Parts: sequence; structure tokens; C-alpha cells
Amino acid sequence: MAEPFMTTPPKPERLGAMTEENLKAAFAGESQASQKYLAFAARAAQEGYPNVARLFTAVAFAESAHARNHLNVMGGIGSTAENLKAAFGGESFEISEMYPAYSAVAKMQGNAEAVTSIRYALAAEKDHQGIYEATGKKVDGAADLDATPIRVCPVCGHTIVGEAPDECPLCGTAGRLFHSF
Ligand SMILES: [Fe+2]
Ligand SMILES: [Fe+2]
Repeated sequence: MAEPFMTTPPKPERLGAMTEENLKAAFAGESQASQKYLAFAARAAQEGYPNVARLFTAVAFAESAHARNHLNVMGGIGSTAENLKAAFGGESFEISEMYPAYSAVAKMQGNAEAVTSIRYALAAEKDHQGIYEATGKKVDGAADLDATPIRVCPVCGHTIVGEAPDECPLCGTAGRLFHSF
């Protein structure tokens, strides 16, 4: 059998100001499309259309490749040590500024479901921030994270390194439904 061959994806380059703005917008749009299609795939599966689910899953994968290419051309993918710092920074912004402000607005507007959705995200971002910080220290010393399973609540995104609790402390989902990575 012939060796598998894969072309190199587009590489980082110096960007014109307008192209940089365009790629940022395209990255956001493709990322959103990918997530939307995964959610649509889950709905199609629930409604008894497994092949429509497969279609949405396949196109989500393609949109994800587009998003990744745009991000890479913008220079947004660094070394793992750099990426952990970037990830920590993103989570920290969401915790200290973005979600508290969004929560206040949603409360003011009486949007209880939005308040819940924001509360789940804000709480889980704190998990992520802590895990990224600890992992960053390891990788700065050239050590990998250890092999302990990482468990994630499928409803609120609560993230734990180690055993899942009996039930999610944030949203009450049974621990046996947590996804393991
Ligand atoms: Fe997060
Ligand atoms: Fe949860």
C-alpha cells in the first residue's frame, strides 16, 4: 500500500489589516458553524435520522478544519507551553470580566435560562483556569500532564481531573454520565 499523503495546511504569515479582520470573522463563523452542526447532529440522532446526524457531523469536522486553518494563518497556534498560557488567559478573562458582566445583564433583563447557562459556563471556566495553570507549570518543566482521566459533565461542563462525583455539584447530573477523556 502507498504511504498516506497529506498536504500541509496553510501556514502563519504577515497579514494585511483587512485580511486579519476577515480571518478573525471567518474563524468565529466557522467555529460557530462547527458547534451548531454538532448540536444539529445530536438532534437529528434523537429524532431518528442517523444519516442526517452523520452528515451534520461530517460537515462540522470540515468547518472545524477551516477554523483551524484560519487560526493557524493568523499565528494563533503556538507551542504547547504558549497555548496553555493563552488558554489560561482566555479563561481568566471570561471569569473576571465577560461572564460576570453578561450575568448582570441577563439578570436585569429577567432571562433566567440565560442566567443559568452563563452560571454553568462561569463555574466550569474556573475549573479550566485552575487545570490550565497547573498543567502550564508542568509543561514549563517539560513534563506532560499525568494519565489521570479527565471527567466532564455533559450538561454544565464541570471539569475534574480524577473521579467523577456521584452527582455534579453545579447542575446535579449523575456522575456516571460524565464523559471521560
Ligand atoms: Fe473553559
Ligand atoms: Fe454539571
